[in-house]
Amino acid sequence: MRIDIITVLPELLKSPFEASILKRAIEKGLVEVHLHNLRDFALGNYNQVDDYQFGGGAGMVLMIEPIDKCISELMKHRDYDEVIYMTPDGTTLNQGMSNHLSLKKNIIILCGHYKGVDQRVRDKFITKEISIGDYVLSGGELAAAVLCDSIIRLLPGVLNDETSALTDTFQDNLLAPPVYTRPSEYKGMKVPDVLLSGNFPKIEQWREEEALKRTEERRPDLLK
Ligand code: 6GU
Repeated sequence: MRIDIITVLPELLKSPFEASILKRAIEKGLVEVHLHNLRDFALGNYNQVDDYQFGGGAGMVLMIEPIDKCISELMKHRDYDEVIYMTPDGTTLNQGMSNHLSLKKNIIILCGHYKGVDQRVRDKFITKEISIGDYVLSGGELAAAVLCDSIIRLLPGVLNDETSALTDTFQDNLLAPPVYTRPSEYKGMKVPDVLLSGNFPKIEQWREEEALKRTEERRPDLLK
């Protein structure tokens, strides 16, 4: 898989790909992530990428021309399955969307900023608009990092058996059950006996019950 991210703040997007699972996925060649600084496609001597909105009102809007130049350049070299715009008024991201996107070959992610982008960018280039939740971030970069993490960890070979995505919370519309590690007793707080019993069918049954209990308590909406 190849992901091209277009942003006015590439430095904000570097570190998530330079540690842990995402770093390893890139090193193993399972995904390529390319950051593109929109300013490299800017206009005139001022390297302009944004401007005031027509009709008046506070806040700058990303201009269509630098974005057109950047996306057109990328599209010269390969076909893209999706051109995603990160925006708080997009569809709220969920596990199903990440599963779906993890099957794509090439995707572009455009990070919104300031008051957003010229509507004509959305009309002409964008195939999916995604939000990561009902709160406002300063820009789409952190949301893009969240989206990329949720996709990349699903690619075959990224996780091993122990970290398998199949047992994740949300993969079966259930929250994950409680987990414990050594010591089996700490300051009087004990690990549930069943987990120390070695009876694996029983352990599996306990986990399923706990997962269901947790989901009923915390996220009854997932069970509908
Ligand atoms: Cl994708 N962008 C911004 N700026 N804020 C957000 C978001 C995206 N998703 C939730 N809040």
